[in-house]
Amino acid sequence: MTERKNSNKKSSSGKESFTDTGKTRLNKFLANNSEFARRKIDEMVLQGRVTVNHKLILEPGIQIDGVKDDVRLDGERIREKTKKTYILLHKPIGFITTTDDEKNRRTVLDIIKTQEKLFPIGRLDIDTSGVLLLTNDGEFANKLMHPRFKVEKTYIVNLSRPLDEKIRLKLAGGIKLDGKKTAPAKIVFVNKDAYDVVAITLTEGRNRQVRRMFENYGFFVRKLHRSSYGHLTVDGLKAGEYRKLTTQEINKFTNK
Ligand code: URA
Repeated sequence: MTERKNSNKKSSSGKESFTDTGKTRLNKFLANNSEFARRKIDEMVLQGRVTVNHKLILEPGIQIDGVKDDVRLDGERIREKTKKTYILLHKPIGFITTTDDEKNRRTVLDIIKTQEKLFPIGRLDIDTSGVLLLTNDGEFANKLMHPRFKVEKTYIVNLSRPLDEKIRLKLAGGIKLDGKKTAPAKIVFVNKDAYDVVAITLTEGRNRQVRRMFENYGFFVRKLHRSSYGHLTVDGLKAGEYRKLTTQEINKFTNK
């Protein structure tokens, strides 16, 4: 399970990584987390205005832990600004989509090497593979999951028998699940001559929705793969690989 190319830090091997240790230089930390530029910070440190863990520090370039150390400028605690992180994971089968599991099963967070507190945007069943987004940005996650936002999610479904046109139209038009009609869906055949493999595009995300929609007509879903989430696909990522979203990919969701 590895991280794929992303546009951030590069490790010595040339492979990019966002395993965060919290270690950074004191002046860099202060410049990133205050309104002062690096040169001004250096002056302030030399003037004896900075403490680390309550000890006066006169050397701007010392290594500190931006998460754990108590860094103060003129006695005021400077904390690391929370970075917003957005990850696209090609979820493999066999992992559950939750932050932790009382049965000790493997979770999608076991795959991602970061100390940031990420959570998945929506859920995929343990047996489902494909596009899964994770973030620490609650506002972004709520927006994407809100029904009003109508993010299109496409699933490739391998069915236990061929789908006929009558049932295809019924499912596409909406059926009752938990007493509430499902929103209109697009259902198309993936190959011209295999009517048991379909692509279904939904704008909702109810619990086990795809499986339950087909089970309602006596089908068994043999395989389920989310091939896209909005404009994002798993192209270039093998199962278990992940990457950070680009700024353009994030902004495309929020129309900035
Ligand atoms: N619908 C399902 O039934 N399962 C999933 O994992 C996603 C959508």
